[in-house]
Amino acid sequence: MSDPQPVYLSDYQPPAYRVTHTELTFDLDPAATRVKARLHIERQATASADEPLKLDGEQLTLDALLIDGNPLSGNDYQVSDEGLRIEQVPARFTLESEVQLSPKDNTALEGLYQSNGMFCTQCEAEGFRRITFYPDRPDVMSTFKVTVIGDREREPVLLANGNPVEQGDLENGRHFAIWEDPHPKPCYLFALVAGDLHSVGDRFTTRSGREVSLQLWVEQENLAKTEHAMGSLKRAMAWDEQAYGREYDLDLFMIVAVNDFNMGAMENKGLNIFNSAAVLAHPDTATDGAFQTVEGIVAHEYFHNWSGNRVTCRDWFQLSLKEGFTVFRDQCFSAETNSAPVKRIQDVSFFRTAQFAEDAGPTAHPVRPDHYIEITNFYTLTIYEKGAEIVRMLCNLVGWDAFRQGADRYFARFDGQAVTIEDFVDCMAEASGLDLGQFMRWYSQAGTPEIDAHGEYDYAHGEYHLTLRQRTPATPGQVDKEPLHIPIAMGLVGTKSGQDLALTLDGNKLGKETVIHLREDEQTFVFTDVAEAPVPSLLRNFSAPVKLHFPYSREDLAFLLTQDSDGFNRWDAGQRLAMLALDDLIAAHRNGVEKVMDSRVVEAFRTLLADAPADKAVLAEMLTLPSEAYIAEQQPIVDVDAIHAAREFVRQSLAMALRDEFMATFEANRSSEPYAPTPEQIAQRSLKNVALSYLMSIEDEQGVALCEGQFAANHNMTDVRHALTLLVHSDRDDLASPALKTFGEKWAHDPLVMDQWFTIQVSRPQPEVIDRVKYLMAHPAFSLKNPNRVRALIGAFAQNRVNFHRLDGQGYALLADVVIELNQLNPEIAARLITPLTRWQRFDETRQVLMRSELERIQREPLSSNVYEVVEKALA
Ligand code: TRP
Ligand code: ZN
Repeated sequence: MSDPQPVYLSDYQPPAYRVTHTELTFDLDPAATRVKARLHIERQATASADEPLKLDGEQLTLDALLIDGNPLSGNDYQVSDEGLRIEQVPARFTLESEVQLSPKDNTALEGLYQSNGMFCTQCEAEGFRRITFYPDRPDVMSTFKVTVIGDREREPVLLANGNPVEQGDLENGRHFAIWEDPHPKPCYLFALVAGDLHSVGDRFTTRSGREVSLQLWVEQENLAKTEHAMGSLKRAMAWDEQAYGREYDLDLFMIVAVNDFNMGAMENKGLNIFNSAAVLAHPDTATDGAFQTVEGIVAHEYFHNWSGNRVTCRDWFQLSLKEGFTVFRDQCFSAETNSAPVKRIQDVSFFRTAQFAEDAGPTAHPVRPDHYIEITNFYTLTIYEKGAEIVRMLCNLVGWDAFRQGADRYFARFDGQAVTIEDFVDCMAEASGLDLGQFMRWYSQAGTPEIDAHGEYDYAHGEYHLTLRQRTPATPGQVDKEPLHIPIAMGLVGTKSGQDLALTLDGNKLGKETVIHLREDEQTFVFTDVAEAPVPSLLRNFSAPVKLHFPYSREDLAFLLTQDSDGFNRWDAGQRLAMLALDDLIAAHRNGVEKVMDSRVVEAFRTLLADAPADKAVLAEMLTLPSEAYIAEQQPIVDVDAIHAAREFVRQSLAMALRDEFMATFEANRSSEPYAPTPEQIAQRSLKNVALSYLMSIEDEQGVALCEGQFAANHNMTDVRHALTLLVHSDRDDLASPALKTFGEKWAHDPLVMDQWFTIQVSRPQPEVIDRVKYLMAHPAFSLKNPNRVRALIGAFAQNRVNFHRLDGQGYALLADVVIELNQLNPEIAARLITPLTRWQRFDETRQVLMRSELERIQREPLSSNVYEVVEKALA
């Protein structure tokens, strides 16, 4: 077999043939489903008459093929691994085909497959070609009429996109349902679900008066876990009306929960399909974090109805057009329904840890890539999260009113079309009158820009000189980088007054906070009439996805931690302060020198606890040290053991010094109120649980008793899971084993809770974890075929820094073994699972050799294009 070849953005050609209407009939059977397609096809005016018809199709058995009712003979067409080609076709015709496929053998979970006996589909990005021969590209948009035929007993419920038009019984215990979707859509938004499903219903009236029926379809045992998703859906529908003036456009909106799903969820028109982990939530089984994730994903998929479905992508290089914009929309929604500063802190922490790492590694790519081998490898943090940061910058640059006008323009102008990122940015430029030419580089240039900043206060003239220098490191295939247009929100905080000072720049009075625009490699901004020496507060609310370095002293940071008017930067000052202390301790550990705790960090934490900010969720974030993964990102060469030791040392030092404060915080925030996932309750629980973590880090006797009590009280999964994690991660087996046993037995019937049980035990810092992983892979609740199980056990182990990176290489070997096996079963998940190994360049020589040799071992296997692409890049 030849090596898979890349596709290039520059090769884009509009389709020669369009499908104006698509009729499909599915005769469902686990091993032999028959799919009949009737496609109404038209040649484009721009295409020549001898243009062949090329349809995508994979793993299909073709049984019949007709044009305008006439069967084609074997020499009229050719079928290959990739599809079907017909040399001569009329300008307008109907193409009928009949194919056969086997859903039960589909472990890749792309196309039509079975999950727990239920039939379901996943077509984004290129799964529809595993269902029927079709131009499987997003710029071919068609209306659909779908007939689903199933077994009355086995599949009492038959669903597809759009509106139900007819249903009835057939012979032999079969029945059918017909669905029609009047909105033209690309085939990646096609969906079908059939199985023994049960629904919860509700209604929503749009502001123009359309009555929408809402249905959430789940397996019977999950009916009690649907309330939160339904509430989230209604809040999202209302929010899109109020924030963007966008209404729902069908009479029916359905969500289905399936157990086997590669990603979080899918925005199929009128029939969203969700990973059960992204939709089901009950206080006894889901944590606060899971409740918030459900709300965010339900909103995300709903928002796609406009940003993605009504206006879609011309080609997959434009993926961030729908994903970046939709993530930005769901972030704003969640910020408004929860605590806005905490939402931003959590998103940015995650972004700076995971996306920065992607940008610094061998799979770094622009938000709009210019080539790819396997598109499923490009559903990345860069496309989604960096894409959202770019949209956020756009929104801040043009201001909300112009942004909203630009969005209105975009939806109006391109409704029913498949468009590009330029089309979106052009609307913003027109609405604002701004020149966004340089800004467009954010989409084409990969890598995280770094800004070196320094400032000087000129006492004599009352001036503050702020100099910013930007550079973007080289990334694969992009050595030379051009300067970006970087908006930097900032203030100057007076060291005497502790207040934001009035800002005057180039004679313009700008108020107490402003955004400066860095466009050159280096620029100096001179603020005049600066009444007192300031500490600059830069990149407020993370106004651009960059790394900003400023030579802050620890005193400066302690000052900003309490005085900065920007809540995000107060938190960030704390993180920077902790990082300085951690750096010293990492060096001490490496040099074998005794570790000494920086008292300024202790005092800063003491002040925080004594003089707590009003938002308890923000306080909880401020009391949380940077994660080991984040700390690792800051090191030139990652020393996993030194990082772990340094962070544990800081945690324990803080716990010892502030033991009584943490105990008081814990006590003050206990509650026996009935559980509700409200921002107030979530904030209180997170603060209480942070305090408990500190107490448990020193195995404080009273703390241990409180932790055991919290576990036994069984009040809600947030508290139970947190207590269980602390017990299991403690060094005391007498605490860990009985708690794990109790929990595992209690929840053996609930796969989503068992996932948490897997994750907690394979995240322990103790070295015997590797054996535990192997043992759990044989556990009856585990299956390599289920992506959630794989993520919970193998994915979580690969995040266990000290154990995955063991110096004997066993952690790497285990991951490689799983990747090799999964490469056959589910290439998409296999390719994602390799990520930690691709970061080998960041580690010491010994680990580099071990990691590379595992990548090479994978490379010697016969590989899917997904795994092939990742491994090739990693070893390039
Ligand atoms: N479009 C989906 C979303 O972001 C992503 C998605 C769901 C997906 N399932 C997938 C992407 C399978 C690739 C393959 O909301
Ligand atoms: Zn999405």
